[in-house]
Amino acid sequence: MKVGAKIKKSSKNNRIHSIHSIHNKRLTLDNTIYIQRGCCSCHKGVSGCGANGRVILIAPIIIDFIIYMIINKMVIPIFQYLNFFFLIICAIILLEDRRDNMNKLENKVAIITGGAMGNGLGIAKVFLKYGASIVVLDYAEEIRESLKNLREEFPDSTISGYQVDIRDKEKVQACVDAIAGKYGHIDILVNNAGVCRLETFEKMDDELRDFHFDINIKGTWNVTKVVVPYMKKNQESSIINLSSVTGPMVADSGEVAYATTKAAIIGFTKALAMELVHDHIRVNAIMPGYIMTPMVEGMAKETNSDSPEEVVNGIAKGIPMGRLGTIEELGELTAFLASQESSYITGQGIVIDGGSTLPETMSMGV
Ligand SMILES: NC(=O)c1ccc[n+]([C@@H]2O[C@H](COP(=O)([O-])OP(=O)(O)OC[C@H]3O[C@@H](n4cnc5c(N)ncnc54)[C@H](O)[C@@H]3O)[C@@H](O)[C@H]2O)c1
Repeated sequence: MKVGAKIKKSSKNNRIHSIHSIHNKRLTLDNTIYIQRGCCSCHKGVSGCGANGRVILIAPIIIDFIIYMIINKMVIPIFQYLNFFFLIICAIILLEDRRDNMNKLENKVAIITGGAMGNGLGIAKVFLKYGASIVVLDYAEEIRESLKNLREEFPDSTISGYQVDIRDKEKVQACVDAIAGKYGHIDILVNNAGVCRLETFEKMDDELRDFHFDINIKGTWNVTKVVVPYMKKNQESSIINLSSVTGPMVADSGEVAYATTKAAIIGFTKALAMELVHDHIRVNAIMPGYIMTPMVEGMAKETNSDSPEEVVNGIAKGIPMGRLGTIEELGELTAFLASQESSYITGQGIVIDGGSTLPETMSMGV
């Protein structure tokens, strides 16, 4: 059956789908059931439903096999084939698990802010890999080139984007209304767009301070504000905010404005998670250490314009894993928080930093 197809709920085979779809409360008004995928692996169900799907898949095979053996008086020879039989069962389970995982964002519509480059682009790629439809919001010119490349890399996926500044409330509202009109639902919001410019507290003027506050805090606020009413119509949704270890946990000099905004994002995440928990909207934050992106390249240049590579190498040396993270690694964590795999996680800040916030001292140890 074609993925995402509608079926009538009367046929015998479809009863299993019906049970699971009702479980997921995905019944539509015309009394048809919207199937998320071809079979009843129930990746969208409440926790435990995936395992039930497997039992439903395997149980008839076992029962059929036993009945066949009894009818043909082959109960004793069955033991000769037992190894082979269990191998088949294991293969089915493994294939099911793999398919569950690869389709974990199928039929989801995700808005990713700041997706033209860096972390946002990594998140976009990983979401597409897992079957989501994505919409990128970014104010940079590069959005055109990035969307073109994404469409080439994922020709079967639904990819769109708007060149918009998240500080502009009216334009953000218009974009989000258009997205909801086009897709009918918005399931995932990744508030990733953010900026960081290094300057000491004493030298930083109000304009540069507000540049950080307006994008990192108010921009995130603007997009979330207009997306939440749409999410309230869903059975489940997920908001993921990009915070940082900088601010809530650690900081270097020159990061006062940035650190303030990233700490604020943790407060925003927790309070919003409490308000939206009964609307089945989970809200979590990601707290990255250093991920190799244009932002980090820019900060390295600000620190040492003659040799930014030296700065990056120095950062890597200070990280227990000896390297910066990749945008794909960050994308995988974001996809986990966007998917049903994290269905019992809300209001949390999850650190992804190669152990950079781990060392208690730089000198103690054997
Ligand atoms: N890279 C890291 O090491 C790191 C660490 C911790 C947190 N983060 C967070 O991850 C997020 C992404 O960072 P990155 O390193 O990929 O940065 P980046 O500068 O490489 O990319 C940021 C993207 O956001 C877009 N953007 C910025 N302001 C915008 C606005 N007003 N409207 C629309 N789009 C806007 C930019 O055009 C760009 O495409 C940020 O929130 C950042 O604070 C990054």
